[in-house]
Amino acid sequence: MTSQDLKAPNCEALEPAARAVLTESAYNYYAGGAEDETTLRANRAAFSRFYLRPRVLVDVGEVDTSVEVLGERLSMPILLAPTAFQRLAHPEGEKASARAARAAGTLMVASTLSTTTVQDTAAAAPGPLWFQLYVYRQREITREMVQRAEAAGCTALCLTVTMPVQGNRERDNRTGFRLPPELEMANFSGLRQAGFPEGAPGSGLEAFIAREFDPTLTWSAVEWLRSITRLPIVLKGIVTPEDAALAVEHGADAVIVSNHGGRQLDCAEPTLLALPRVADAVGERIPVLMDGGIRRGTDVVKALALGARAVLVGRPALWGLAVGGQAGVEQVLEMLRGELRRTLALLGRPSIRALDAGAITEIQGLVLPPR
Ligand SMILES: Cc1cc2nc3c(=O)[nH]c(=O)nc-3n(C[C@H](O)[C@H](O)[C@H](O)COP(=O)(O)O)c2cc1C
Repeated sequence: MTSQDLKAPNCEALEPAARAVLTESAYNYYAGGAEDETTLRANRAAFSRFYLRPRVLVDVGEVDTSVEVLGERLSMPILLAPTAFQRLAHPEGEKASARAARAAGTLMVASTLSTTTVQDTAAAAPGPLWFQLYVYRQREITREMVQRAEAAGCTALCLTVTMPVQGNRERDNRTGFRLPPELEMANFSGLRQAGFPEGAPGSGLEAFIAREFDPTLTWSAVEWLRSITRLPIVLKGIVTPEDAALAVEHGADAVIVSNHGGRQLDCAEPTLLALPRVADAVGERIPVLMDGGIRRGTDVVKALALGARAVLVGRPALWGLAVGGQAGVEQVLEMLRGELRRTLALLGRPSIRALDAGAITEIQGLVLPPR
């Protein structure tokens, strides 16, 4: 990481530096969304609909950003979202991210599609680690992955439900996205070909997903998963109150309001707008987390005021990883923590607990000119 990059004042400012060190295909894989990228942009734009309502003359000498998620005390309500193929960004890949999360007192969700095994990722940073899962056509692969995650000491399973088929990612079709020969989908070693199918046109990942992922998945899969593990199950990709109610009914321990960072169904509702309805449907029964477009401490506060227990960040952590490995991911987490603390102080809410619906208001019809 150069001293220039270390001076990046915020998460967004890291993206150009990351782009400069990534291959064109890796950058576009990380940055892109589905089709016209409407949802990708809307996830960000939704934050500008909400404004904060500061209370004044409140003692904010001490600001406490800690939260509890599934029995785990975290130093702040910001987790690392599961993102695939992190060694495309940096040789230390998933290990560097896990160490950064640990150093920051939070946790990472390790992707199924990691370029490091879950065992090695867990060993790199002992502490809480969630494992993200898909359900494969061959259930035995899923079962084996669950067992490996359990044996590695993972503390929750995060079942992503947004991917019966892959979203139409035109950037990856254009670049013919592939993993370079030295990288593999390490969690598939010994179970299945750990590379993409040979000779498929367009995106190799899309061909892999079409071959492996089970598009017939229904709610009974959650019950099946429950029957094979005692770990808490987090459903990632719940965006409607209807599905939120079903998630609770089927025994989910938490849900993540997520549209996969705009990479799956284009024109899906921005997650910040979906969040309050999901939170309402779930009530106090299980925690609701959210991701999509979190780039600032104010974004975190808005999501929490609308009902999230915590948020996850995807792309900003990848930019940090590309630019500076572990130090780069730590920088992202510390920038967000710093902004979050300052926002809470300026808002007159010295703790996460003090954040309530009164901290936020929705503005209709206010369009800001570009900066
Ligand atoms: C490059 C990339 C790879 C991703 N890989 C996965 C994955 O393997 N599993 C998963 O559940 N979500 C995956 N996601 C979605 C993220 O977990 C998260 O939902 C999304 O990135 C949040 O939006 P943000 O990038 O705006 O923070 C991926 C996202 C990106 C950008």
